[in-house]
Amino acid sequence: MSALAESVTATATATAPATVPRVPIPPNGVDYRGKIVLAPMVRSGELPSRLLALKYGADLVWGPETIDRSLIGAERRVNPRNGTIEFTRVPSNGGRTDKAAKPSVIYRLDPVREKGRLVFQMGTANPDLAVQAAKVVAADVSGIDVNSGCPKPFSTSGGMGAALLRTPDKLVSILEALVREVGQPYQIGISVKIRILETPELTEALVSRLVRTGITGLTVHCRTTPMRPRERAIRDQLRMIKDICHNAGIPCVMNGDVTSRDEGLALMKEYGVDGAMIATSAEANSSCFRSEADGGLAPWKDVVYEYMKFCLESENRLGNTKYLLNMLIPGKNKEFNQAKNSKTYLDFCRALSFEDLIPLAVQVDEVLELTDKWASAPSKDHVRSKAIQNAMENNESARAAGGNSARSKHAAQPTHTGGPIRTSSFPEPATANKTENEQPAVGASIPTAQAAPQPGVTA
Ligand SMILES: Cc1cc2nc3c(=O)[nH]c(=O)nc-3n(C[C@H](O)[C@H](O)[C@H](O)COP(=O)(O)O)c2cc1C
Repeated sequence: MSALAESVTATATATAPATVPRVPIPPNGVDYRGKIVLAPMVRSGELPSRLLALKYGADLVWGPETIDRSLIGAERRVNPRNGTIEFTRVPSNGGRTDKAAKPSVIYRLDPVREKGRLVFQMGTANPDLAVQAAKVVAADVSGIDVNSGCPKPFSTSGGMGAALLRTPDKLVSILEALVREVGQPYQIGISVKIRILETPELTEALVSRLVRTGITGLTVHCRTTPMRPRERAIRDQLRMIKDICHNAGIPCVMNGDVTSRDEGLALMKEYGVDGAMIATSAEANSSCFRSEADGGLAPWKDVVYEYMKFCLESENRLGNTKYLLNMLIPGKNKEFNQAKNSKTYLDFCRALSFEDLIPLAVQVDEVLELTDKWASAPSKDHVRSKAIQNAMENNESARAAGGNSARSKHAAQPTHTGGPIRTSSFPEPATANKTENEQPAVGASIPTAQAAPQPGVTA
């Protein structure tokens, strides 16, 4: 620990009251104490990834940062096939008038399996917008977290993310507004995720203000804003930050290079913090949330199978599924090099030999309007609906006419070796006009009766 950090720690410890207060956790909120949690991750933190983390033992999950403006005015609907809650809006369609724009899913959650365990993370630089956006989801989540650590220009240029570390008055006013106008009425917690600043004094000054805003949790990513993800996390300010949080009764969650549940628990003990948050290790293999005693890391293929099941159950956008498969499957794997060219769930399940998932894959392809991209039609055993049969017949006629609707699975060369190695920090979050705009209106494409058996949501 640096001399400066030592001295700030000593100050914080010297002023610690005899009995440590604990902020009360609102009835609809969740206590971050004693928890190993999935980090917020744009793209990698969509619903199937969160369900996967929960399956392997994550105690809580953060959703991907969502920008306040993208949520304001969004419509809330329940997907009739799987019971998930979807917040949608109609994109601007890039000014095109030839094609009616379909609603895009901006945020999707599972009210059963994520109940009491989901924290919504917001990108914001404005208290009024933050409150308006938070109200859209407040009744469906256990907490609202403000991203005050994203270093990417798309975030900082709008004054969001890590830019808020330099504008503490603004960050404080956002948190206070959220506590007063969302946390209290909805009885959920408001929290913040920050990075460390260059010196312990700067971090101390900031954290001392944040813990007086009424928040019920603070996460610290132990890297400074300019640090790259590959650089080792710096933990020498952690005890000082934890002491300030504890003096105010606020749980403190550590983040940065935590690679497993067991390691998280050991680090919590070593630094006296209340929780540990995992990002990139979970992106590479979500079974890192499973302790050694319960089996430890699972083989990648088991994890990918579970992930695919959650993607199908959630009707996840195929592009997103593919993105995370790239993270979960080791780079040089032969099967995956074939699977990578798949343009439909059916083809993915075939390439990965997930035979039992094929009937569900066929249905989801139909819902997502992907059937015209099948490399070859499913066997009759896997076909359940009239609409799928029609699509197959159309595919057959197109093939007979020399059309290209049935594409060769092996036509394109692999362009990426895959695997979990990450060299940059994180991709862009959903914005009002830049969302999952390839996603069809999943609530409207097929009548419910045709969709049976349903992609189930089981607790
Ligand atoms: C793909 C990806 C997306 C991320 N998106 C977010 C985000 O939406 N909000 C946020 O606060 N941090 C985001 N982060 C940062 C992580 O939450 C975490 O702070 C960081 O990766 C350090 O944790 P680690 O060392 O376990 O990877 C993202 C990181 C990655 C790799």
